[in-house]
Amino acid sequence: MSQPTDANLDAYWMPFTANRQFKKAPRLLTRADGMYFTDDKGRQVLDGIAGLWCVNAGHNRPRIVQAIQQQAAELDFAPPFQMAHPKAFELAERLVELTPAGMNKVFYTNSGSESVDTALKMALAYHRVRGEGSRTRLIGRERGYHGVNFGGISVGGMVGNRKMFGMMLSGVDHIGHTHDAARNAFTVGQPEHGANLADDLERLVALHDASTIAAVIVEPVAGSTGVLIPPKGYLQRLREICDKHGILLIFDEVITGFGRTGNPFGAQTFGVTPDLMTVAKGLTNGCVPMGAVIAKQHIHDAFMNGPEHLIEFFHGYTYSAHPLACAAALGTLDTYAEEGLLTRAGELGGYFAECLHSLKGLPNVIDIRNIGLVGGVELSPLPGEPAKRAFNIFLDCWEKGVLIRTTGDTIALSPPLIIERKHIDHIIDTLRGAIQRAA
Ligand SMILES: Cc1ncc(COP(=O)(O)O)c(C=O)c1O
Repeated sequence: MSQPTDANLDAYWMPFTANRQFKKAPRLLTRADGMYFTDDKGRQVLDGIAGLWCVNAGHNRPRIVQAIQQQAAELDFAPPFQMAHPKAFELAERLVELTPAGMNKVFYTNSGSESVDTALKMALAYHRVRGEGSRTRLIGRERGYHGVNFGGISVGGMVGNRKMFGMMLSGVDHIGHTHDAARNAFTVGQPEHGANLADDLERLVALHDASTIAAVIVEPVAGSTGVLIPPKGYLQRLREICDKHGILLIFDEVITGFGRTGNPFGAQTFGVTPDLMTVAKGLTNGCVPMGAVIAKQHIHDAFMNGPEHLIEFFHGYTYSAHPLACAAALGTLDTYAEEGLLTRAGELGGYFAECLHSLKGLPNVIDIRNIGLVGGVELSPLPGEPAKRAFNIFLDCWEKGVLIRTTGDTIALSPPLIIERKHIDHIIDTLRGAIQRAA
């Protein structure tokens, strides 16, 4: 492969990237297989984050590659409005076999952000078609990440993603986040303290009245903000309060979906069924962009009235149910099933937790959090330079051939679910060295 020049790095304005830093010292990936990327210098880089929380079955999986190749030659595109192709139905059926009981209607999108905005619109429209059009308020949570579209950043709660973009959606409010370092730091798995934090929703009901609230959206595990695990009982409590007030509960499972926490979905790991669920990422193993909203039957049914020739839900994308994405997703679900990957995080989670928590006591490590095959290591920031210590550790690990991810001063790990113990050891040893060097 030819080495890119400075000039040909110029035109691409990279997303969520320190562009100037990157272009001075580019990190270019050219191939991937199994647990490893290869960079443009031919180095092997161990993937500690499943690409971007998405390549759950590892890279270059034959069933998925073949499915995409065959599909491209057979049916490259089919219009999704008033038309369809068989794999869209097959995939929906396969998906609802994996979801919690009763969640059996699949609406396709192309990303997590689109899934979130779709779910929010579905919630608003659902109340309206049932004659409760006063329910227009959407509730998110502080520190939540729901993608980058206007709906998602409105209900999202990460300040950097919100502050630049004006007023966003009106009528949105937020419950408090669940992070309680004073009481829960270094908890292995779900924290003991904080179920009562769900009662913050009662505060918003008292403030706005339930008759104005359409839905609450939360990530079962808040990933992008730095891996915040729900306290024991918290999601159950949230479910109860939503039920009491007729508020829809939306789980954003874009990260937790497809095996990350030890079950197909976080809803199953935590034993709470939402009304709507957003997915993306692991749906196609990251190979072709695709997302979906999965709804309970009664939500779908509420729309199915009026003259039969009329569209029931005025929403959809040109690439909803794209044939290549459906083929990739079917190949992905086959791979997950054949290799037992959707429960593997439960089996390996204990070893992963043990290794991750062995970093306790290293300089500047102020908290460690984990569930299934996701882990967060929080560091105290360099004085006056937030996020820099973690970024330096990210660069150090990259130099040593391990890809990790950072958000603020938290290191997030979410390796492919095919990971083996030796890879976990390698990631943790590399991280240990980098944390020590960053002291
Ligand atoms: C919980 C959650 N929701 C939504 C998104 C947005 O997904 P996408 O980047 O595919 O739009 C993400 C991405 O990380 C996510 O973690």
